[in-house]
Order: sequence, then C-alpha cells, then structure tokens
Amino acid sequence: MKRVPVVLGIESSCDETCAAVAAGAGHIKAHVVASSLAHHAAYGGIIPEIASRAHLESIVPVVDEALCRARMTPRRLDAIAVTENPGLIGSLLVGTSFARALSRAWGLPLFAVDHIRAHLYAAFIEDPLRFPFVGLVVSGGHTTLTKVSGPGRQALLGATRDDAAGEAFDKVAKILGLGYPGGPAIERLAEHGRPAAFPFRCACEGSDFSFSGIKTAVLYKVRELKRTYGDLARETVADLCASFQEAVVSDLVAKSIGAARRQRAKVLAVGGGVAFNGYLRRRLREAADAAGLELFIAPRPYCPDNAAMVASLGCRLVSEG
Ligand code: KG4
Ligand code: ZN
Repeated sequence: MKRVPVVLGIESSCDETCAAVAAGAGHIKAHVVASSLAHHAAYGGIIPEIASRAHLESIVPVVDEALCRARMTPRRLDAIAVTENPGLIGSLLVGTSFARALSRAWGLPLFAVDHIRAHLYAAFIEDPLRFPFVGLVVSGGHTTLTKVSGPGRQALLGATRDDAAGEAFDKVAKILGLGYPGGPAIERLAEHGRPAAFPFRCACEGSDFSFSGIKTAVLYKVRELKRTYGDLARETVADLCASFQEAVVSDLVAKSIGAARRQRAKVLAVGGGVAFNGYLRRRLREAADAAGLELFIAPRPYCPDNAAMVASLGCRLVSEG
C-alpha cells in the first residue's frame, strides 16, 4: 500500500501564526493558531509591524505545539509546506525563513504554497478532489473566482476590482462602530435585522466583483440617518447589517453559480474567512441544490487563516511529485 505523506504546514501571511501536521491531505493530526488580533483591535485593522513581531514571538512555540499534539518527530516528516504569497511581506518572511531553516536543518523538501489556492483546496480537506471545479475564495484580502481543470491547471475567471468581500464587512463594521474584524459582528446583528430594509446592491457586471460602492452607500445612509434621527437605534443597525449582508451574499452566490454554469462545471468549491458566514453557507447550499451543482465549502475551522490547509495542500503536492 502507498504510504501517505506526512507534512508540516506553516502559515503566517497576516496576523495568525499557524502550524499543522497532516498525514495525507484529509487527515489533520494537529493544527495550532496563535492570533495577534487583540493587539490590532484598538487600531481598527491589522498593523503589519505588530503582526511581524508577534509572528517572531510565536513561531517556535506554535510549531513545537503542533508537532507535540500530533506526536510527531522531525524524522517522521516527509516535507514542509509554507505559505509563500500573497500576504504582508514582513509576516510572510517570518514563516518562509523559519520553514527554510527547518528544511535545511532536518533535510526535508520545502514546498511553497499559494495562500489563495490553500484557502480554495480547504473545501476538499475532508473529501477527495473533484476536477474540474469552479472555486470561490472570499477572504479579507481576496475575492476570486477560478476554474480548476486539474492539479496546477487553473484559470482566473474573475476577481474584485477594489475591496475584497471580507474587507467590505470590516469597513462597514467600522462605519457602524462594531469593531474589528467586522464579519462575525455583522453576521450576529444581521440575524435580528431585515434584509430588505435598505436597497443596497453590489454593482459589478460579469464575473468580477466590486464592494467599494456598497461600503460608500452604507456610509452615506448612516450619515443621513444620523442627521435625521441622531444616534442609530439597535434595530436600525441590525437592519443595516442584514441589508448589507444580503446584498454581498446575493452577489457572491449569483456570480459563483453563474460562473459554474457558464464553465459547464458540476462542482463548486468555496473557501476563505468569509465562507465562515452561516448565511452565505446556507444560500450557497440552496442555490447549488437548485442548479444541480455539487457544493464543497471549507469546514468552518479551516475557513479563517490556518496551517491545516497548507499542510493538506502540501500533502497533495508531495503525492503529485
Ligand atoms: O481568510 P481570512 O482569515 O484572512 C485573509 O486571508 O484575509 O479572512 C478574514 C476575513 C475578515 O475580513 C473577516 O471579517 C472575514 O474574513 N470574516 C467574516 C466572518 N468571519 C470572518 N465575514 C463574514 N462573516 C463572518 N462570519
Ligand atoms: Zn487567508
């Protein structure tokens, strides 16, 4: 029987220092995340310098902890996989330098992994890959639609022309005074609001996305409401959240289902931090069922930045040689 590769994954592209061990693409033996989010919250966004320094402090204990939880020694590893790009340059450098040093010291091959690809393949972390598929990645830094025909064979179908979907959630949350990151706060409040209360929409035709217009529309609406009524009532904030979320989710769902149809793909895969959103997951499921598409969404623990997706993709790369 063919032995499954055992891979140590390292991810440090933004504010989370992550390490994971996978024994085969679908078997995550351990995954550890140390977040520096609390140090950034006061600034309303990620401060790159703070993130890099936090990675320096966390990288050794995080990798140690992942190996320990997986009961793994360096000698039993087949390779190391590390997020190479895209991300904050200082943050990426900590992970890639550390991974390179380990690969030299332990005599292991090193695989450089693309962060967006890792988010996308996380959709298949518990299932075998199903080529060809159309993939949607929705995160704080990226919103992309891709057609993937086979290992390493992918074509970009669409991307955001301005803000990423998660960035729009974060900016709207900031306008509403909900803190950072905005996605979880908006989702929570949207549950108590009316999705049709305000007629927001995302205005971008084709397979590209644009979220900067809707963010400005929310800003102008908030200013108008405050001028007329003073401070916003809790119900109004909930209505704004629900209406904004409705518009963004509808746009993401329509464009990914439309792209899968045009590409005659039978499979849709979705990953990234925004894919944690329960309303998006439900709407995707309903739309995919109606369109006769098979849907794979990254399991919730593997939606935000994590190294399990890196180790898992690393295993696939090792198996492909
Ligand atoms: O994938 P990720 O952890 O980091 C990047 O690669 O950017 O994504 C972070 C983004 C943030 O913008 C955050 O607000 C968003 O994912 N996010 C959500 C939710 N949870 C996180 N957006 C909408 N609903 C959520 N529940
Ligand atoms: Zn990410």
